[in-house]
Amino acid sequence: MKKYKSWAGRFNKETSPLMDEFNASIGFDKRLYNEDIDGSIAYAEALRKAEIITQKEKRLIVKALTEIKKEFETGIFKILPTDEDIHMAVERRLVEKIGAAGQKIHTGRSRNDQVQLDTRLYLKKSILNIINDIANLQKSIVSLSENNIETVIPGYTHLQQAQPVLLAHYLLSFFWGLERDKERLSQNLKRTDVLALGSGAVAGTSFDIDRELLRKLLGFNSISKNSLDTVADRDYIIEFLANCSIIMTRLSRYAEDLIIWASAEFGYVEIDDTYATGSSMLPQKKNPDSLELIRGKSGRVFGSLTTILTALKGLPLAYCKDLQEDKEPMFDTIDTVSICLKVFSGVLDTLKINEETIKSKLSEYIIAIDISDYLVKKGMPFRKSHSVIGKIIRYSIESGIPLSKIELKTYKKYSNLFSSDIYDVLNIKKSINTKKTAGSTSTASVKKQLSAAKRRIK
Ligand code: ARG
Repeated sequence: MKKYKSWAGRFNKETSPLMDEFNASIGFDKRLYNEDIDGSIAYAEALRKAEIITQKEKRLIVKALTEIKKEFETGIFKILPTDEDIHMAVERRLVEKIGAAGQKIHTGRSRNDQVQLDTRLYLKKSILNIINDIANLQKSIVSLSENNIETVIPGYTHLQQAQPVLLAHYLLSFFWGLERDKERLSQNLKRTDVLALGSGAVAGTSFDIDRELLRKLLGFNSISKNSLDTVADRDYIIEFLANCSIIMTRLSRYAEDLIIWASAEFGYVEIDDTYATGSSMLPQKKNPDSLELIRGKSGRVFGSLTTILTALKGLPLAYCKDLQEDKEPMFDTIDTVSICLKVFSGVLDTLKINEETIKSKLSEYIIAIDISDYLVKKGMPFRKSHSVIGKIIRYSIESGIPLSKIELKTYKKYSNLFSSDIYDVLNIKKSINTKKTAGSTSTASVKKQLSAAKRRIK
């Protein structure tokens, strides 16, 4: 039996089975069935308006397409080996169901503009879903911050204790980064929200297809300006993958912090049993696999970005089959980013903070800059005070006497600007609240951040 292929007319021989397998994208682009069918339903309206099909034929097409959608939804749609991709599968089934009228659906249309229509419709929805996943993670961050508003942790630079900060300040740093991620995705959405249909294979079409009608029916914001650009362009997918790479970089960094904090050496936090797993050999182990997988999965998202960039570079305009390689990385990234955001929310919602352990690990030297500021406020130039405090710290380390136990007369040996109020400075909690700049870690500033954050996610 001869294989049915819509393009087989000019061929003498059939494609080899190996080529069929190699060429097909149906295995993954069947995910676009909804968008593909919606696109064809709208296109039938445009064909009707252009008087290429009758009102009756249009009704027949729309009814059959609606039934085909049901077949997909209920899992009874049968994909045949000759269905190269979702577009050919739907058209094949349409012709099976209604014959001649179905054979008119592809008039003036190419899979080159059709696939762009489907992908853009699909990505629009996915971007909105991911923005929503980010907002949910932000909610988890806000409630963890509120529930631990007094908790002080070491702020690190070079993974060395640098200055004390509120845990809420640390957590909100995550919030604001995610806020930028949402902004980037919203921008991305604008450039995705463009109607491609009506561009044909490369040059547009000689039929009177009303693209404005299509735009309205399919809910796009604008119409693409150049048919060549339309069928060649994958910028919006590259942008999406780049935006998701930034998101994954962020998730990975915060995951890394929490992984370190959950170790016995730190013990700042405990990952809940619901987001940890055990070892098949070592009975005592409780591993932070949730966070490790988030960190690990960032790699595949960066890989997806590289895949598309590499596939596009050097492609002659306009459509080439290389462009079929855009969908798997895109789908994989949508799935990966979405589950990572949800899992991170779950980890934070159930995270236990060990406030006492954190307190016990805070080094006294973490407020060194506050002693320096103290001398500066009494008139000493900063560079000098830096050196004076450095010497006092060295003395403390070598003598084993903590800063709070060094006698005033010893302090005075380093500078006679010291007086008994120095002992008030040696207070970690106080250090936090001496911060005056906007965006600092003082309790007042963090509370302000929290209200601003809450307004954003309302
Ligand atoms: N499956 C193809 C893709 O994803 C659809 C477009 C095919 N166009 C063509 N002229 N062969 O890119």
